[in-house]
Amino acid sequence: MHEHNKIYPPNPEFAAQARIKSMDEYHALMNEAKEDYEGFWKKYADEKIDWLAPYDKVLDESDAPFYKWFTNGKLNVTIQCIDRHLKEKADQTAILFEGDRGDIEKISYQELSVKVNKFANLLKEKFGVKKGDRVVLYMPMIPEAAYAMLACARIGAIHSVVFGGFSAEALRDRIDDAGAKLVITADGAYRKGKPYLLKPVVDKALESGAESVEAVLVVERNRELIDWVEGRDHKYYELIEVMSPVCEPEMMDSEDPLFLLYTSGSTGKPKGVQHAQAGYILWAQMTMEWVFDIKEGDVYWCTADIGWITGHTYIVYGPLAAGTTTVMFEGVPTYPDAGRAWKMVEEHKISQFYTAPTAIRVLHTMGPDEPKKYDLSTLKVLGTVGEPIDPPAWIWYHDVVGGGRCAVVDTWWQTETGGHMISPLPGATPIKPSCATFPLPGIMAEILQRDGSPVETGETGLLCITKPWPSMIRTIWGDPERFKKSYFGDVVKDGKPVYFSGDGAMMDEDGYITITGRVDDVINVSGHRLGTAEIEAAVAEDEHIAEVAVVGKPHPIKGESIFIYVVPKEGHVNPDIKKHINTLIAQEIGNIAKADDIVEVPGLPKTRSGKIMRRILRAIAKGEEIKQDISTLEDPSIVGKIQEAVRQATQND
Ligand code: WT7
Repeated sequence: MHEHNKIYPPNPEFAAQARIKSMDEYHALMNEAKEDYEGFWKKYADEKIDWLAPYDKVLDESDAPFYKWFTNGKLNVTIQCIDRHLKEKADQTAILFEGDRGDIEKISYQELSVKVNKFANLLKEKFGVKKGDRVVLYMPMIPEAAYAMLACARIGAIHSVVFGGFSAEALRDRIDDAGAKLVITADGAYRKGKPYLLKPVVDKALESGAESVEAVLVVERNRELIDWVEGRDHKYYELIEVMSPVCEPEMMDSEDPLFLLYTSGSTGKPKGVQHAQAGYILWAQMTMEWVFDIKEGDVYWCTADIGWITGHTYIVYGPLAAGTTTVMFEGVPTYPDAGRAWKMVEEHKISQFYTAPTAIRVLHTMGPDEPKKYDLSTLKVLGTVGEPIDPPAWIWYHDVVGGGRCAVVDTWWQTETGGHMISPLPGATPIKPSCATFPLPGIMAEILQRDGSPVETGETGLLCITKPWPSMIRTIWGDPERFKKSYFGDVVKDGKPVYFSGDGAMMDEDGYITITGRVDDVINVSGHRLGTAEIEAAVAEDEHIAEVAVVGKPHPIKGESIFIYVVPKEGHVNPDIKKHINTLIAQEIGNIAKADDIVEVPGLPKTRSGKIMRRILRAIAKGEEIKQDISTLEDPSIVGKIQEAVRQATQND
């Protein structure tokens, strides 16, 4: 038997102490949810959430697909994440920060309470931020980023974190779409031993629009020299000390928005995914307990950036709601060497480690034996997220990092789902490598065809969630029609539109689910989600380009890389085209969207109705033979010409 066909049963010692200890327990929970869906969720909502006022209905489906959970309930997620822990764990470390240069800061729950309350008062008193106002965060990975998110939540403001790798243009578009009143940023931070700057990007974003912004709050991280706009810009450390450490939490309705997070779709501009309060925090906490099996004394480290949903749910909200110690790391796991991450695991006695397959592949490639140099015996659960993980990376993670002792949980979920959906349970699930295995208890995932009928075992179909769940996306900010169309417009089951994820998946004869990847025009580069339409729009800004098509190409480390076909305008030749286009992309979107391949072609393969056949372009990028019928193309001869152009371009590289 090949290693990757092997089944890895749970470690019996771990299983004995786990929250969910066996597949029997898993099935019992799942059956409970199937028999009485609302009763299942009610039990957890009553047990886990510190309600300020009770809800009157578990699930309101009257305005589907705008589902509402725990209607009319009142709560504040910062009570869930901070206040309720103060009785028993005031002195326990809530956030364990390690800077790029090795500087360490431990913030206890008591200190976190003071930081967040002061920050909340600053937002209210100095900047007039009120419930429902939008605040954009453009922050490095420093504790103040978490304080800022929680401060917004404390007073009912809606935060929208924009990943620090996005460009000024991308930041401005997101500020404009949200109509944000305040931007919170830092002068800069440190990366690979060197300072870098963030504030200049905010300055640039505000030069060209972003009219809604009244002020910029700057956290001084590296005190590099930056430009200053008097009256608009404010220094965090000059203002924060005098603030009162007591700020009454705003009474929030279960369904009030908690945050927006912009993500790419297959068409048009990025979507402001809107999450709500009660359902989100409930599932964030429950999945910490089930999937990571968080226990007293654990030290949990997720390497994501707070600019992505993983950073929201599994660095800030989930771990703090679960009352654990969450590690925040400013740097990169390969600096100063490929042992950095493992050194941190040893030093901080990390018990759960959660990262992306790209990072695992990089660490594997750079230092296959590095983990053996450190004491990693505190590790219990290893997680992956963001993209499919290939068997060699999975097996190395399991055998070498986890010492064969730890469960590797491949967690499938999305910005829109708020939390984990399909994942092994570390104490229960016999795991097949590279397989997300089974839906979590309460999650009704099915692999369907467009008409709602199931696919055959072993066939790829559309990964759908057929019942609403508490932490689901509520709408797209300012565009409810797009919300309906994007997620509830493709698959109809029993006459009812169901949530379609955009991913393909397949189930094997044992019922295990494997995610096969996006079936729409979304590319996943190093776990970063990018829309082909957005990149095409950026490239089309170049006046010498007549047409452009962007596809993903498999990449050994990044999962996928970006491959761009451009058709120049008549007679135009640009020897620097690759550099030029990547500069444009960096300006319009950010460095994360730069292409590995850019090839000039005489035309694109189109149907007679003008539709670009991306499937053909993907196959050519991969160097595959074209098996499909090309006779329906407007000009079938174009395929050979594109293949020739790609061949020449690869030779010249
Ligand atoms: C897309 C969502 C979920 C937080 C990070 C990314 C892909 C996610 C897995 C996995 C295979 C995965 C999917 C999904 N994806 N997890 N375990 N195996 N693919 O969030 O930016 O919203 O992207 O990431 O394609 O749709 P996101």
